[in-house]
Amino acid sequence: MSLRVAILISGGGSNMVTLVDSMTGDHPARPCLVLSNRPEAGGLDKARARGIPVAVVDHRPFGKDRKGFEVELQAALEAAKPDVICLAGFMRVLTAEFVTRWQGRMLNIHPSLLPKYKGLDTHARALAAGDAEAGCSVHLVTPELDDGPVLGQTSVAIAPGDTADSLAARVLVEEHRLYPEVLRQFCENLRQS
Ligand code: GRF
Repeated sequence: MSLRVAILISGGGSNMVTLVDSMTGDHPARPCLVLSNRPEAGGLDKARARGIPVAVVDHRPFGKDRKGFEVELQAALEAAKPDVICLAGFMRVLTAEFVTRWQGRMLNIHPSLLPKYKGLDTHARALAAGDAEAGCSVHLVTPELDDGPVLGQTSVAIAPGDTADSLAARVLVEEHRLYPEVLRQFCENLRQS
């Protein structure tokens, strides 16, 4: 029996597409849901085009009521019954209570070499610090933002004249390689456990 993977997005969904396209053949998992907190997220149509069920839980009507938003998010997830959740460009910070419920089964991709540069604007911060390399990390999600155990990482050399955008574009290529690789290994381990 294949494991079921739900993917949470907020934007274009390029990481989501690489995850979905990787779950074929002898892969131990299959996508069961793509969910966005923004109805206008471009990734939703890419998921529909691949025949993946989609759902939207718009966070805006909830304002600062994170728990209210998460009650609906949890209901949508429970309906899809995922074994694993992948955050892929999902830009909502989840409460400790919600994360704890899925702990050990929720992954995230972050565009830095964690533990460096948790949070936003990772490439601009690496450039401002004069770093020689940047990169991306896939980690388990824990209540502390971008703090969970790192399951995989790829570094990317910073080139003279790099801007945050040019660096982000090169790191994104590595994200598309790293996330499917880590998800596959994670699911194989989960299935053997
Ligand atoms: C990626 O760079 C990811 O690391 C970050 O947000 C971006 C999302 O890109 N959290 P996409 O929506 O997967 O194209």
